[in-house]
Amino acid sequence: MTGTTDFARLVGIAVPIIQAPMVGPMAPLAAAVSSAGGLGSLACAALTPDQIRAEVAAIRAATDAPFNLNFFCHEPPSPDAEREAAWREQLAPYYREFGLDPAAPVTMANRAPFDGAMAEVVSDLRPRVVSFHFGLPAEPLLRRVREAGCLILSSATTVREARWLAERGVDAVIAQGAEAGGHRGMFLTDAAASQVGTIALVPQIADAVDVPVIAAGGIADPRGVAAAFALGADAVQVGTAYLRCPEAGISAPYRAALSTARDEDTALTNVLTGRPARGLLTRAVRELGPLSAAAPAFPGAAVALQPLRTAAEAAASGDFSPLWSGQAVGLSRERPAAELTRLLASGVPRA
Ligand SMILES: Cc1cc2nc3c(=O)[nH]c(=O)nc-3n(C[C@H](O)[C@H](O)[C@H](O)COP(=O)(O)O)c2cc1C
Repeated sequence: MTGTTDFARLVGIAVPIIQAPMVGPMAPLAAAVSSAGGLGSLACAALTPDQIRAEVAAIRAATDAPFNLNFFCHEPPSPDAEREAAWREQLAPYYREFGLDPAAPVTMANRAPFDGAMAEVVSDLRPRVVSFHFGLPAEPLLRRVREAGCLILSSATTVREARWLAERGVDAVIAQGAEAGGHRGMFLTDAAASQVGTIALVPQIADAVDVPVIAAGGIADPRGVAAAFALGADAVQVGTAYLRCPEAGISAPYRAALSTARDEDTALTNVLTGRPARGLLTRAVRELGPLSAAAPAFPGAAVALQPLRTAAEAAASGDFSPLWSGQAVGLSRERPAAELTRLLASGVPRA
């Protein structure tokens, strides 16, 4: 018997282990984690409302257990033609290398912020949990999520962000340390160099807010889970380690790169999307960044990279793909999601 916590009781899950929302076909992963007693999550930022409905139907066909729908709530940037043109100019040598036309228009499913259409999907589907990244949506939209009966979570990367979220009534704060894979959830600061590590962040947030704290970033095995609880966490959110599960819908080059990656192989980069995110040091990250003042504002930087990504992936290369990964990638192993959930849960202290 493993431990349970206030957060787990609130959500109605057996173990306080959250599989982090991660872009890609992840419904089988989310269903497997929820079936195993944790909280599976579905990243919705790059999905249309119809795609969200289809993914949720797949989860519900597999399990009755609670799950989490995750949305971004960034301010969409105003168009900046000059900056876009300069970015394309910087990428032009790569276009030539792949025999692509740098002037050709690009259409892609980029990341969209939570809006009225997504609020309607949430009202219809009524997931047990909705989590946000990059702050919270405007109050009228947030109210619709509350009225749908969903618990609301959001990521904080500083104590100031945690307090801001708690003041707006979130049910729990995700303390996202700098080790974490994927985008920094930062929204009251853009100082990537000042981002705080998990071991420093979790206890300072736990001291600052009255709601449960969920530790995220660099947790990949029971030792990390036990450490997070010792620091005052009430649950953990784990991303990178779940990417290695067979249920995770990631490409073969991504899977291969994760299997050999070590502690030194990630960096915070803004060149892939325009916002700081931690990922593997691919060719694009090394040669264009890791951090670059030229990258267009989020999510614009991804647009001009998309044809390069597609061309490289067709040649089984992840050189231009966002291979998000946290610093604990070297601790992760290929294992089924239910097994990983049980393993992580063994680090939760018994009440
Ligand atoms: C591939 C990948 C994609 C991610 N996408 C999202 C996302 O869409 N929404 C979100 O809130 N967090 C996202 N994250 C961040 C996670 O929520 C979490 O903070 C992080 O995975 C924890 O660190 P770890 O990767 O070391 O376990 C992503 C992380 C990864 C690795």
